[in-house]
Amino acid sequence: MTQVAISGLGSYVPEKILTNFDLEKLVDTSNEWIIERTGILERRIASSLESSSSMGSLAAKDALETAKLVPEEIDLIITATCSPDGMFPSTANRIQALINAPNAVCFDINSACNGFLSSLMVGSTLIKSEHYKNALIIGSETLSRLIDWTDRNTCILFGDGAGAVVLEPTSEENYGLTDFLFGSDGNNADLLYATGPATGESDLQKEAKIIMDGQSVYRHAVSTMTSITKDLLIKTNTSISDIDLCIPHQANSRIINAVAKNLSLENDKVYTNVDQFGNTSAASIPIALTQAFYDKMLEKGNNLLFTAFGAGLNWGSVLLNWGTIKNPKEQ
Ligand code: COA
Repeated sequence: MTQVAISGLGSYVPEKILTNFDLEKLVDTSNEWIIERTGILERRIASSLESSSSMGSLAAKDALETAKLVPEEIDLIITATCSPDGMFPSTANRIQALINAPNAVCFDINSACNGFLSSLMVGSTLIKSEHYKNALIIGSETLSRLIDWTDRNTCILFGDGAGAVVLEPTSEENYGLTDFLFGSDGNNADLLYATGPATGESDLQKEAKIIMDGQSVYRHAVSTMTSITKDLLIKTNTSISDIDLCIPHQANSRIINAVAKNLSLENDKVYTNVDQFGNTSAASIPIALTQAFYDKMLEKGNNLLFTAFGAGLNWGSVLLNWGTIKNPKEQ
């Protein structure tokens, strides 16, 4: 059976930083409240010239560089986003044009904050079935365009950014994606949703905003990420002590800590950067993975656990045995 591994990775975040102190000037909140309830200190905000495709293309270029592939060699581009450039075409097609990857088949996946993991599932399965020889998987979000900047329940949580990985078959036995499990619950879709499309220039954008029942979302996030991970560990006959590093969706440090506690996962095995970037939805795991890679936290043979939860509701966990990627900055 073909094993599929991550052979390249990269990320991009906009320059503009929005701190909790900046938010104090917009809504009735405080730096202390935001840190205590979410762990977030600051988040990045895209400039008016940036979009999910422009940020995604920069992350994608870095991912291709680490994979030592040229864009023409890419077979498939999947972009996970719930804040696309427009309703259509897909943001993946926009990225295809920006990076000049004419031989790729392109589409988006909208599974909100779970989108990067859903895209890993789809991309790896299409490579395993030998329909495609590689895939560029990008999580990219411009959530700032969906935020109601008068709603203190939501505007404190989200940020913009992009992360990308390249998937390829690996000849290294036992490396690559081990397995995954996902769940969905459309009956609870109204707990977290966005009105209007995130089209930068459309009048409809004025109507676009995120609506959330924070406490219910919190409870569902903790319980679903815990249970899907436990099920995946059982399915793959993996013990929690076998996990070297968990990279969860960066929604909120309290959610991450509660899931880690439920799984009996030590804090030093859980990667977090939510303090720096807030919740970047589908971009959060690939941004964190790239940061963990450049922080030298990933070693060959490490068992990585990704787990995510998002609007839909959708959730999932992926187990992956880390292979070899050379840091291009050290060559
Ligand atoms: N600053 C100050 N006070 C705030 C506030 C803010 N930004 N947002 C809400 N409050 C107030 C509420 O109005 C409420 O006041 P009241 O008691 O006078 O009515 C109080 O704080 C408590 O509100 P509550 O909603 O119970 O807070 P909470 O502890 O649940 O924290 C969230 C709110 C949003 C941080 C929390 O519910 C959460 O993280 N939910 C999950 C969100 C998420 O991760 N979504 C994405 C999933 S992918």
